[in-house]
Amino acid sequence: MALRPLSLFVQHDGRSSRRSITCTYRCGNACGHDVPNTSDGEYFRDVAARALSRRQILRSGATTAVVIGGGSLLVACSDDGGVASTGSTTASETAPAGTDFTVVQPNTEDALVVPAGYEQQVVIRWGDPIIAGAPQFDPLNQTAAAQQQQFGYNCDFAGFLPIDGEPDLLLMVTNHEYTTEPMMYPNYDPANPTEEQVRTSMAAHGLSVVEVRTSAGSGALEPVLGQRNRRITATTPMTLTGPAVGSAFVSTGADPAGTTVLGTLNNCSGGLTPWGTVLTAEENFNQYFGNAESVTDPVAAERLARYGIEGAASERLWERFEPRFDLAVEPNEANRFGYIVEFDPNDPAAVPVKHTAMGRFKHEAANIHVTDDGTVVAYSGDDERFDYIYKFVSTKKVQSGGDAAALAENIAILDEGTLYVARLTGNSPASEIDGSGTLPQDGAFDGSGTWIPLLRSGPGSAAESFVDGMNPQEIAVFTRLAADRVGATKMDRPEDTEVNPASGYLYVALTNNSNRGVDGNAGPDEANPRIENKNGHVLELVDDHAGTSFDWNLLLVCGDPEAADTYFGGFDKSAVSPISCPDNVAFDGHGNLWVSTDGNALGSNDGLFSVVVDGDRRGETKQFLTVPVGAETCGPVIVDNRVVVCVQHPGEDDDATFENTFSNWPDGGNSLPRPAVAAVWNPAGNIGV
Ligand code: FEO
Ligand code: CA
Ligand code: CA
Repeated sequence: MALRPLSLFVQHDGRSSRRSITCTYRCGNACGHDVPNTSDGEYFRDVAARALSRRQILRSGATTAVVIGGGSLLVACSDDGGVASTGSTTASETAPAGTDFTVVQPNTEDALVVPAGYEQQVVIRWGDPIIAGAPQFDPLNQTAAAQQQQFGYNCDFAGFLPIDGEPDLLLMVTNHEYTTEPMMYPNYDPANPTEEQVRTSMAAHGLSVVEVRTSAGSGALEPVLGQRNRRITATTPMTLTGPAVGSAFVSTGADPAGTTVLGTLNNCSGGLTPWGTVLTAEENFNQYFGNAESVTDPVAAERLARYGIEGAASERLWERFEPRFDLAVEPNEANRFGYIVEFDPNDPAAVPVKHTAMGRFKHEAANIHVTDDGTVVAYSGDDERFDYIYKFVSTKKVQSGGDAAALAENIAILDEGTLYVARLTGNSPASEIDGSGTLPQDGAFDGSGTWIPLLRSGPGSAAESFVDGMNPQEIAVFTRLAADRVGATKMDRPEDTEVNPASGYLYVALTNNSNRGVDGNAGPDEANPRIENKNGHVLELVDDHAGTSFDWNLLLVCGDPEAADTYFGGFDKSAVSPISCPDNVAFDGHGNLWVSTDGNALGSNDGLFSVVVDGDRRGETKQFLTVPVGAETCGPVIVDNRVVVCVQHPGEDDDATFENTFSNWPDGGNSLPRPAVAAVWNPAGNIGV
C-alpha cells in the first residue's frame, strides 16, 4: 500500500436551538447537567503584546511542512483520490476560486437546499443494505440481524479513500454517532425497550465502510455491495493499545487482562491518515452506562463525575440486556470508551485499535498533520463546555513503504509519543475583554499559547507522567483530571480540528457555551470572549506542530452579522452569511475553510459555509447549502467536483416519533426521515469556480 493522499475532509449545546430530544439521545443531556469541569485551573493570563507575533513570522513560511519522501501528503483530494492543486487566494474583485456560487439564504425548508444550478443526490440512507444478501429496509419489522448489514443511523463523519487498482471506486467511511429510538421504532416505549430494539440500536451505532462508484461528468456516487464493505458496531471486538493496557482501570470480568473491548460508541467526527487508515472519535460515551450512583468510592465517583457519568438508569437501558453497561456490575467498562479508534478500511477483517496514549475524553475528532521530518501530530478537541484542546506528537516517523509491515508500523505510531493540552494566553488587557464580544483596542482576539505535556508513552509499555500525583495509566484513562491539574484553558466546547494544507494553520470549531460567565462558571477571556456564547467561534492557531508554542486568533466570532458581537476576519459584515454553532471544519483544494454547523441559534436550518482565510477577502463567509429541518450538517468533504455532507437526525424534534414525523426527508410523502449521506455538484464545472 502506498501512502495515500490525505483527503481533506473533512456540533451541540446548551441554550441554543437544538431540541432537547437531540440532547437526550446524543449526549445524554450534557448541557442540562452541571458543568463537569469544576476545576479552578489557572487557565488564562494576560501578557503584553509581542512586537512581532509568531503568526506573522510563521505566515512567511509555513506551507510545506507536509512532504515526506518527496511526496506531498497534505494536499486536497480531487476527484476520486487524485491530487488537486493547492494555493492561497489572492486579492480580487471576484470570489476566490472555490467560493464562486450563489449563496443559499437562511431557511427552514424540509429539503437539502443547494446553490442555484447545482445538483444533488442522496447517496445512501439509514437502513440501505451494504452487505451482500442484506435485507431491504423494513422499518416496521427491523431486526438487529438486518441492521448489522445495513447502513447505520445518524451518520456524522464522512471520509473517502482511493482503492488500489479501482479508479472508478472510492471507499466511503461514515460514523453512526447515536440512535434516536422514538423515531426509529414503532410504538417505542422508552421505559421498556425490547431486547430486539436494544440490540438493533447497538447495531445501528459504529461505522459503515461502503464502496461507491463515481460517474464521469457528475458528482454522483453509487453504492456498491463491494468486498470491502463492512459494519463496525457497538459489539465489534477491538484491541486496546498504549499505556492503559493491562491496568486495573480497564480490567473487567470479561476481560481481566484489559486488552480487548467490545464495540465503539458515539462516534462523532474523525479523520483519515496518510497511511490509509481511519480515525474515529468516541464522544459522548458517558450516556450509555447505567447506575453510576451505585459507585460510592469517592475517588471512583469523582472520576465518573468528571466524565458526566451519573445517575441511575441510562436513557437507552442497554444495561438491562448487557450487564457490562451496568456500572454496579462492571464499574470499569466505561473506562474502555472515550478513545480515538483506528482501523484499516481496506481490510474488512482488521481489528480496530483504541489508542489510549492519545487520552480519554469526549473526542470530537482527530486530524493529523505530518511535519517535514515525518513526525505525526494529531489534534483533538474535547467537546464539553469548559473543556480542552489536545494534541499528540509521535515519537516515531511515518513509514512510506507500501507494504503490510509499513502499515503495521504506521498504525502503531499513535501509541508512542507525547500528549499535550493547550493553554491560551491573550495579548490584550483583561479589562478590554468585557464579555460583550467588543474587540479589544488592538483589534483582535488573539495571543499566544503553550502546549503543556501530560503523558509520554512508549516504547513498549513504558510511559512517563508529567502530572504531579498521577501515574501514566491514570493520565491515559482520566485525562481530563490530568489536564485540570496543569492549568489548561477552558474552552467553549472544542469540536472539530483540522490543519489547512495550504498554510499549515490549525482551525478549531468552538461551537458554543451558553454557560460562559453565568451560574458561577468561568467568565470571558480573550480566546472565549463572550458571555453566554450561543453562536460559537472559530479559532485559527499557528502551531509549531511538533513543538510546544503557538500563536492564535479568532477568525470568526459567529452569529448574526448585523449584531455587534460578531466578527468575520475583518471582512465587510454586510456581505457575509449568518453562521451559528460551527462544528466541523474542512478544506477544499484552494485552501478555503469550510464549516458545517449544528444547532443554529438564529432560526435557520443548519448549513455548510465556505470561509476565505487569506487575502483581502479573509473572513468572507458564504452559505453553500442548508440541511432539512431538525438536521445538523456534518462530515463535509469538499473536492474539486463534489461536496458530500452527512445529514444527521433530520426531523429531530421533542415531539417527534416514528408515528409523528417532523421531516419526511429524503423520501418525501409521509415517509420516515432517514439520516443520509448526500452529494452535491456543479454540472457546469467544479465546485465554486
Ligand atoms: Fe457529536 Fe461534538 O458533536
Ligand atoms: Ca460534531
Ligand atoms: Ca488582542
